[in-house]
Amino acid sequence: MTNPYDVLARYYDWEHASFSDDLAMYLGFAKRTGGPALELACGTGRLLAPLAADGVSVVGLDSSAEMLAIARGALEGERLLGAVELHQADMRDFALPGRFRLAFIALDSFGLLRRPADQHAALTRIHHHLTLGGLLLLDVANGNIRGGEAPDELLLQHTGLDPLSGRPLSKWTARATDLAAQVDHFTYFYDELREDGTVARRTARLALRYFGRFELELLLGRAGFAVEALYGSYDLAPFASDSERLIVVAVKTAREVHPKSP
Ligand SMILES: C[S@@+](CC[C@H](N)C(=O)[O-])C[C@H]1O[C@@H](n2cnc3c(N)ncnc32)[C@H](O)[C@@H]1O
Repeated sequence: MTNPYDVLARYYDWEHASFSDDLAMYLGFAKRTGGPALELACGTGRLLAPLAADGVSVVGLDSSAEMLAIARGALEGERLLGAVELHQADMRDFALPGRFRLAFIALDSFGLLRRPADQHAALTRIHHHLTLGGLLLLDVANGNIRGGEAPDELLLQHTGLDPLSGRPLSKWTARATDLAAQVDHFTYFYDELREDGTVARRTARLALRYFGRFELELLLGRAGFAVEALYGSYDLAPFASDSERLIVVAVKTAREVHPKSP
């Protein structure tokens, strides 16, 4: 399976440079649990670097060599490379030494696992790597409010200067939603304006699953977790009808989980 983030890596920090709304939440849970913490699908280290800078013992795992190379460079630049372990692995099938008190999958990345069998495999591996009573945080978009929007749309999502070329860069996103499968199919167009006025376009495709609240609770229960709390925003407001986010805090309760997928 190819990882679309191998293509998207070049643009990821350009798009997310000013996004840190979720950082205080992860810092709070890292302090509460005392670490060590494991971030699955850690990408370019957007969260790893500030967590490590704050003294959290943190390990990052991602399947994209391109995203991890950027993370490594950023951590090196901030003299934090010695403080963070990075692993290239698939979150559905990984084995790390040690056990963690906190694991998290940020910013919709759990939805990159589209099939229930893949979701179960990842949750089972995470369960194995947590201490008993350890916490798992999942942050996904609130799928309970989906269905009223247009089934497809095209929008200009981000503009600015390409940090590599210095040329004007725009990101257009086309969404086509499969309501029956609870999947958004995104096509991203990155348009770079060349000096001669022509446009160089790079395209990447990505499919993202969205989840309902009780679906997540059932998935977690099946993997040996109990839901401790549900939040609707990064400032930990209770999950409500109009919440944009569906943030689940789950506790590892059972000692062993049958590794078979549902
Ligand atoms: C939206 S980025 C999230 C990056 C980071 N967590 C953040 O919040 O900025 C999604 C990441 O998931 C990674 N990814 C996708 N499928 C994966 C898998 N099966 N196992 C591990 N990482 C995966 C991609 O390589 C990408 O870096």
